[in-house]
Amino acid sequence: MGMREVQSTYTVSIEYDKRLYKQDIAGSVAHARMLARQEIISAGEAEDIVRGLREISLEIETGKFPWRPSLEDIHMNIERRLFEKIGDTAGRLHTARSRNDQVALDVRMYARECCDDVKGLLRGLRGVLVELASSNARVIMPGYTHLQRAQPVLFAHHMLAYFEMFGRDARRFAQARESADVMPLGSGALAGLPYPVDRRFVADQLGFSRVSANSMDAVSDRDYLLEFQAAAAICMMHLSRMAEELIIWSSEEFGFIRLSDEYTTGSSIMPQKRNPDFAEIARGKTGRVYGNLMAMLTLLKGLPMTYNRDLQEDKEGFLDSVSTLTATLAVFADMLPGMTLDRERMLEAANGGYVLATDIADYLVERGMPFREAHGVVARLSNHAAELGSRFDELPLDVYRGFSELFDEDVLKISVESSVGARDVHGGTAFARVAEAIEAARAELEAEHGG
Ligand code: ARG
Repeated sequence: MGMREVQSTYTVSIEYDKRLYKQDIAGSVAHARMLARQEIISAGEAEDIVRGLREISLEIETGKFPWRPSLEDIHMNIERRLFEKIGDTAGRLHTARSRNDQVALDVRMYARECCDDVKGLLRGLRGVLVELASSNARVIMPGYTHLQRAQPVLFAHHMLAYFEMFGRDARRFAQARESADVMPLGSGALAGLPYPVDRRFVADQLGFSRVSANSMDAVSDRDYLLEFQAAAAICMMHLSRMAEELIIWSSEEFGFIRLSDEYTTGSSIMPQKRNPDFAEIARGKTGRVYGNLMAMLTLLKGLPMTYNRDLQEDKEGFLDSVSTLTATLAVFADMLPGMTLDRERMLEAANGGYVLATDIADYLVERGMPFREAHGVVARLSNHAAELGSRFDELPLDVYRGFSELFDEDVLKISVESSVGARDVHGGTAFARVAEAIEAARAELEAEHGG
């Protein structure tokens, strides 16, 4: 590329900020109406402007708009087109406005919508998790710590753990939305305006609950984007954890699940393979969303007041995070219902690996032994069992009694079912508790829908 070409494209943002066209036009319509109401321009001029903007909107939607990179950004592209449509009256639209407060407005409106979209997608995914939990209510699997089999849990309980994570994510996006919901127009380039504008009117037209309190802050504040990006990074982290579990669960070593054909691909040379590509790509895409957050933090670091052109760099990473996150949420919501569980395999895994050790220790505690001592007894018992190559339920009572006199016939009744059933605390994996949690989750989604 020659130097001339670099120069003419270096500052151009139209390729990505064209995504803001709806917000830019809506902002201009509200601004023009306000200018007429305040008699800063005439009613006829405002009408012409609004009509011209409507035509432009239609042109963009039908792919007929002449995008011109030489005009750099979405604001200049639309303004120039307005001149072509309505003539010199177009020049009145930018009265009492600067691109600095204009771009701040557009991005805030866009971010608000993204928060709403993500909220809807999260709600959908959480609904899928609740249905998975309820349609597999009695499936038992090993719960893990350190990726070692630890204690049996319900598959439903495991799904509802993700329900909680995505619920916290939804709250973070609601917070980001609230931060974005501040109307900056009226700040001008940085100091405010020498015109009798009605900022509240513009805010009402565009559905903002607040107007910005400080013009200098308003043209340089991008905190709401950071909040969105942080929420997106955390949400992708949650999705990557789930992706990782789907990947290992669908491996031959685990064999707990089978993902549907649409979400796996065969290998070009190994016919037996079912690669969990979508889950892997989701896990991988998490990295770029983290990167976008880091880029945004670094972009803002040490930036002097007020607007600096650096801020144009706020958009690409943000828009990329929006696309990545929304696509990933949609993929998961569609992929999860199509997976099938191998219940026998899960149960078998839950029965292996001495996952009932804690329950046997708890049995001794119930009969008066201090927990620490019981822990030692069961550690010796399970070492012994491991040497024999037997599971706990294969050991005869006298072997148990060799380790403690407190063992009785009923120790042989300890099973993964009794273990799960015993975790009967609020937040625990007992059947009844999980059934309650499923109901609570449904009620939460219902309330969110109504409210
Ligand atoms: N494209 C610019 C941005 O995204 C719009 C604002 C430009 N303002 C200016 N004073 N040059 O930030």
